[in-house]
Amino acid sequence: MIVSLIVAMDSNRGIGKNNDLMWHLPADMNFFKETTKNQIVVMGRKNYDSIPEKYRPLPNRLNVILTRNKDFKAENCLVFNSLNDCLDHFKDEKERKVFIIGGGEIYKMALESKCLSEMYITYVAGIFDADTFFPEFDKREWKIQVLDEQSIDEKHGYSFVIRHYLKR
Ligand SMILES: NC(=O)c1ccc[n+]([C@@H]2O[C@H](COP(=O)([O-])OP(=O)(O)OC[C@H]3O[C@@H](n4cnc5c(N)ncnc54)[C@H](OP(=O)(O)O)[C@@H]3O)[C@@H](O)[C@H]2O)c1
Repeated sequence: MIVSLIVAMDSNRGIGKNNDLMWHLPADMNFFKETTKNQIVVMGRKNYDSIPEKYRPLPNRLNVILTRNKDFKAENCLVFNSLNDCLDHFKDEKERKVFIIGGGEIYKMALESKCLSEMYITYVAGIFDADTFFPEFDKREWKIQVLDEQSIDEKHGYSFVIRHYLKR
């Protein structure tokens, strides 16, 4: 099992506000879509709630929701009451990666659990009025490579850099 994480954050590590994203960056959205396509995506219940009903479950990937609510159900999604239970369920998975796709609480839990093999981090050049943040982590534990860069253009109000982090 390979456990990956994918996130986009601003210059203050902000990732969201009022249970929503803070930018519209089609090239990054496309990167997320292509990178997680046909994989398993694991999200917190609030992240799941934040996805408009018509777009969820996210198509062409197995959607997994983490909640403490034992009665929670969502159509065509798997639900677990802890990250450990979720990772245990997929421990023999060979074909697909398990992608941690947020939000803040789930990212924190995944980083602390040391389960991650790699991370894809989009650094958006801007400061937004976020209420949810990506945790600090020790960069020395990771080999870092730039994957892509996007300048400001008619479709992108902010520039960004995508970096790949591979666990040393
Ligand atoms: N920029 C990005 O890349 C990105 C990506 C994803 C999300 N976001 C943003 O992040 C924000 C949402 O993040 P958030 O931190 O508020 O919420 P979240 O991490 O999406 O979800 C939190 C919920 O997860 C469940 N949970 C947390 N810890 C758990 C545990 N130990 N065991 C079982 N379930 C657990 C709980 O659900 P219950 O309350 O149901 O028990 C909790 O309320 C939104 O603004 C969203 O737009 C940004």
